[in-house]
Amino acid sequence: MNGNLRFENKIVAITGASSGIGRASALAFAREGATTVLASRSEEKLERVADEIRSFNPRVLVIPTDVSVREQVQHLIDRMVREFGRIDILFNNAGNAYVGRIDEGLFADDLNKMLEVSFYGALYGTQAVLPIMKRQGAGHIVNMSSLVGRKAFPYFGRLLDHHARDQRLLRRPAARAVWHRDLCNHGVSGLDSDRDAR
Ligand SMILES: NC(=O)c1ccc[n+]([C@@H]2O[C@H](COP(=O)([O-])OP(=O)(O)OC[C@H]3O[C@@H](n4cnc5c(N)ncnc54)[C@H](OP(=O)(O)O)[C@@H]3O)[C@@H](O)[C@H]2O)c1
Repeated sequence: MNGNLRFENKIVAITGASSGIGRASALAFAREGATTVLASRSEEKLERVADEIRSFNPRVLVIPTDVSVREQVQHLIDRMVREFGRIDILFNNAGNAYVGRIDEGLFADDLNKMLEVSFYGALYGTQAVLPIMKRQGAGHIVNMSSLVGRKAFPYFGRLLDHHARDQRLLRRPAARAVWHRDLCNHGVSGLDSDRDAR
């Protein structure tokens, strides 16, 4: 690794790293020199991503985690601290998507499954990592969300509702300000995504 990499010496956890955006993000962080920690439920898929990363960066660790289970998220964070002594970035990316009509029988069940993963999963991750980042006086928490939290699309009701909740908690000015101020008061820096996206 040369010294010009943007994430050299950074310890980065990515949930939902076994496929899609999480896998791509893990590869991108690793290419920029980060030590990546890959978390999702499938150990087999995570190991495949880890093998890709190892071909150019040996610093990668797989920790199978179901983010909807608070104890497993706590274990992820505890293990990272034991292994590396710090956590610089937590990317709460894991999510699942169900589309369909509101009058279908499974609508409410599917909505709950989505909330358990992307809403509570992100909350558990944030709660577990905050004490570490406060102690460090630095750190970043990145929460995945979606355009469907703001804009309605046919048959995307479940996604709309759960991403709207994410955004109510994370992005509405008052809630965001509290969340952001709380992090900053403890020396944790973050990107105010709504403001910076404008
Ligand atoms: N793709 C899009 O167009 C789009 C648009 C807006 C927002 N998003 C959001 O972006 C994120 C990633 O989307 P994607 O398209 O990359 O999806 P994807 O390819 O289906 O990946 C989802 C990831 O989440 C993991 N996951 C699912 N349930 C989990 C659980 N209970 N615990 C831990 N990990 C879990 C999956 O791994 P395992 O099966 O191994 O657990 C997988 O790695 C999601 O939050 C999604 O809502 C996507």
